[in-house]
Amino acid sequence: MKNDQIKDRSMLNEIVQPLTDWYRQNKRILPWRDQNNAYYTWVSEIMLQQTRVEAVKPYFQRFIGELPDVQALAECPEEKLMKLWEGLGYYNRVRNMQTAARTVVCEYEGVLPASYEELLSLKGIGNYTAGAIASIAYQIPVPAVDGNVLRVISRITEDRQDIMKQSVRRQIEENLLGIMPEETPGDFNQALMELGAVVCVPNGPARCEACPVSEYCLAYRHGTVEELPVKAPKKERILQNRTVLVIQDGEKTAIQKRPEKVFLPDYMSFRISWAILHGRKCWIR
Ligand code: ADE
Repeated sequence: MKNDQIKDRSMLNEIVQPLTDWYRQNKRILPWRDQNNAYYTWVSEIMLQQTRVEAVKPYFQRFIGELPDVQALAECPEEKLMKLWEGLGYYNRVRNMQTAARTVVCEYEGVLPASYEELLSLKGIGNYTAGAIASIAYQIPVPAVDGNVLRVISRITEDRQDIMKQSVRRQIEENLLGIMPEETPGDFNQALMELGAVVCVPNGPARCEACPVSEYCLAYRHGTVEELPVKAPKKERILQNRTVLVIQDGEKTAIQKRPEKVFLPDYMSFRISWAILHGRKCWIR
């Protein structure tokens, strides 16, 4: 481990207890926090990836009212599912949830697995969601790093690396993994998220006077809170002129899923696409 990493970890270790205590005394009352239910955690975390907490509440209540468990989600007709998600956007997320729910019914008897790796293998569940479900619902000591957590950690450790980089996120995940409390990982993760949502906010001035861990925060000490986190601007899009072939029959358009990472010379890739288009990987809508 590098020196910087050791320093960051020992700093982060200091915040575990005060932050968890603060969370327990100040957490917002939210419908998915009522009960310890992995399915509720899953649904709420997917909804919260795109929408504010206040706006999610009624969607969550309605969704859970209609589809109270994984089995119900797995069996829900597409039209009803889309109706329940209407207004939240990113419809692929709920489609992926249904695919994952079907896997959970087939392979795990309808119960989300209590394993970070197995959660990660389900469609639409990435590091963050797997970490949130594992730690909040099953008390498994793994981190759950979203945008809020990246901001909080980069300020506390005064880290000026670009948080949009995968390598930086991975480093923060590793550091948090090294200090996760064995007994209360769910509360600690939620405390970091909550701090980012209500105190160490992204837009406008942070509320450092209300922060339970400001005494450990390097950015607060050095007056650099407003400069962090560092986010490199997205790369400009490059427009390219390409010739494309669209196959249509009335209302129907032939679409083809890109083959998984087949690296072939150009002259061969045409043959492969043709074969797949005429094989079972071709869906007509
Ligand atoms: N944002 C996303 N998930 C959250 C959670 N579990 N608690 C607080 N804010 C969140």
